[in-house]
Amino acid sequence: MKVIRTKNYQEMSKMAANFILDKVKSSSELTLGLATGGTPVQTYHYLAKDYQEQKTSYQHVTTFNLDEYIGLDPSDPNSYHYYMDKHFFSKVNIPSDQTFIPNGLAENLEKECQAYDEEIKKHNGIDLQLLGLGTNGHVGFNEPGTAFDQHTHIVALTESTMQANARFFNNINQVPNRAITMGIASIMESKEILLLVSGKEKNDALNKLLHGEIDKHFPASVLNQHENVTIIADEDAIINTN
Ligand code: F6R
Repeated sequence: MKVIRTKNYQEMSKMAANFILDKVKSSSELTLGLATGGTPVQTYHYLAKDYQEQKTSYQHVTTFNLDEYIGLDPSDPNSYHYYMDKHFFSKVNIPSDQTFIPNGLAENLEKECQAYDEEIKKHNGIDLQLLGLGTNGHVGFNEPGTAFDQHTHIVALTESTMQANARFFNNINQVPNRAITMGIASIMESKEILLLVSGKEKNDALNKLLHGEIDKHFPASVLNQHENVTIIADEDAIINTN
């Protein structure tokens, strides 16, 4: 894994945006895997700013988001559909039929998961997957204990993830307790991975990822088995990890 250290969150975000822009500009077709959460907000901001100023085109880009809550309507401000529109899709020229996010309202959720995997396959897999890191080592919504061989599936969220995400809701009782997520196998099949880590609350998790055992109880540890991972981490997240 290649680790890039930045001064702070802004610099991490700028570097991540440039990393993504390089791929967008240099590929005739590109399939991006995207993440939500607090970490990539500013990365999307820099991509949007680039679009305003440089008009880098996304006409040839298809995106697949990692996950979505079950039971939230896309118009719900806490849904990942809403997040993606707000921070990225509405700000660039990506055609809406080239953006995929699991449908957490599907009548048949199992079928939705299978259809999502099929769609990724149809696009020849993901070229670059953007990831954030959960404090308990989750990636996507793959919580500790998730088998490494799963593709898109339904998960029950752990108490710690619900607590961490409660900051986006009025109170923890509103946080959905289930989600659809790409699995560890889906993530590992991406040709390249870009993991962003920011803030001192992620310091222990990053330390474990860089120096701990590969273990399903710390899902992110599997990234050590991928041959093309770049981590961009800010000073607070990386301090004392080496
Ligand atoms: C988001 C996702 C999650 C987050 C993780 C970190 O689509 O899949 O795994 O990346 O929970 O979240 P933040 O960035 O809010 O600390």
